[in-house]
Amino acid sequence: MTPLLPYLKFVHFCALLVWCAGLFALPALLSLYGRCANREERVRVVAATRFTYVALASPAAVLAVVSGTAMIHATGSYGGWMLAKLTLVTGMVFFHALCAKLVLVLQRNPEAIGSGWLLATALVPLLLVPGVLAMVLWQPRFGGG
Ligand code: HEM
Repeated sequence: MTPLLPYLKFVHFCALLVWCAGLFALPALLSLYGRCANREERVRVVAATRFTYVALASPAAVLAVVSGTAMIHATGSYGGWMLAKLTLVTGMVFFHALCAKLVLVLQRNPEAIGSGWLLATALVPLLLVPGVLAMVLWQPRFGGG
């Protein structure tokens, strides 16, 4: 397993880059739904959102979680920091799912939620992603763990 570690880390990093970029792009794209001047513009925004969600963010999220899970045993990452990291990653997964729900709601009624509120949801990954990075880079000890 250990000779695979650099490859797993490479896959983990690449997947994270795409997943995190997707989680930041989705609130911006969703905030455009209610601002389209005509049908043609809306079709473009919907297509861009779907591409970001289905072709980029979702496969990257799966790859990030699978590669990360495969590295737990190889790196012996069993400390409290890993539990804290996984809690924050769970928050990212919930936010990912929330974006899908928002896509469905806005497809039915593009003005159902104000653009400002939709843009403000970017605060969630803005807090979670640095939190995950802090856990993994500093690996703080919680209690004795
Ligand atoms: C279920 C999801 C995840 C699991 C199971 C997981 C697991 C792991 C493991 C075991 C390592 C190796 C730690 C070490 O070398 O000591 C690692 C490295 C890393 N992970 Fe994750 N991870 C996940 C998601 C994420 C996410 C969402 C981010 C960022 C937002 C992230 C950022 C990093 C970084 C930056 C490293 C490299 C740390 C280093 O080499 O110093 N991971 N991950």
